[in-house]
Amino acid sequence: MMYEKFTNGPLNEFFPWADTSGDIINASDGGVIYVDGVYYWYGQALRPLPVARDGKGGQTTTVGVVMYKSADLYNWDYCGVILPVSDNPTCEQYAPMRYERPKIVYNDKAKKFVLWCHYVKYPGDHGDTKGTAEAGIAVCDNVDGTYQWLGTTRPIDEKGLVRDSTLYKDHDGTAYFIYDKQVGDDRCLHIVKLSEDYLSCTDDYRRIDVCFWREAAAIVFYNGWYFMFTSGLTSWDTNPALYYRARSLMGGWEAMGDPCIGDVTGTTFESQSTFIFPVEGNKGQFILMCERHNTQNFERCSYIWLPINFPAPGEMKVEYLESWCIEDYWK
Ligand code: DGJ
Repeated sequence: MMYEKFTNGPLNEFFPWADTSGDIINASDGGVIYVDGVYYWYGQALRPLPVARDGKGGQTTTVGVVMYKSADLYNWDYCGVILPVSDNPTCEQYAPMRYERPKIVYNDKAKKFVLWCHYVKYPGDHGDTKGTAEAGIAVCDNVDGTYQWLGTTRPIDEKGLVRDSTLYKDHDGTAYFIYDKQVGDDRCLHIVKLSEDYLSCTDDYRRIDVCFWREAAAIVFYNGWYFMFTSGLTSWDTNPALYYRARSLMGGWEAMGDPCIGDVTGTTFESQSTFIFPVEGNKGQFILMCERHNTQNFERCSYIWLPINFPAPGEMKVEYLESWCIEDYWK
């Protein structure tokens, strides 16, 4: 079967998408990267934990980060696991674990694909044990190869736990790790400039004060403005989105309100933000990836992909569409 549109489905339903083999796509909280005429969609493949150690947030694990590819964004071929978990108990990747919110950027100088994620050593243990709230890094020569795990790190300082995170590669080639840094009750998004090879953090960082108790950041640059779409902190549950804007990534960010048009339930259209990517070759066309977490069955989450609008300079809006295609929306 060939697909010709994105089907997000009704707001109150889970509407899983199928790959070209007819299997349900399971690529949670990842992103899309365009390489040589092909879009690659990656995310962690969620699975239920055989035995949950706690009641909250620990009910799911992953088999690793998986990848799909597509020329048209509607029909996705499964490429396999690009960053697997391990059955070796001495290894950081020992399952059950999670590579939360994996993001991949290409380093043009080193000619390597670099992946950063929020490393969860044991689902449900979100930082109580040393080594459980870190950033994880992996690298590969090919976008769809098997990524080599380089280990974990804690940016900025050792006391700042790493929570939800994303990566952003700016037009000058500099890359940034953006994450929810937690010290006690102080949870705030921070942005850290990465080293030239993207494999470590530099000392150059900013605390984004207006992004207090926010996560699920997705960044886009358009017409002189950086926009950052975010969610609140309610674990897998939904909450209203807020967006921010800035003239420079390390500059002053300004709160702009909820960008979701008609989101009367205050739920980001019953979903949570994941990533924003451009439609290649079409200026000003960006797709917001969100996810409707299915906490009863994480293998059947809904992927909610929506067109972004910029109604005026420095403003961003998103409307919910049950189904749509790029060709008709941006005629
Ligand atoms: C909050 C995140 O935003 C969710 O996507 C998910 O990663 C949960 N944490 C897991 O506890």
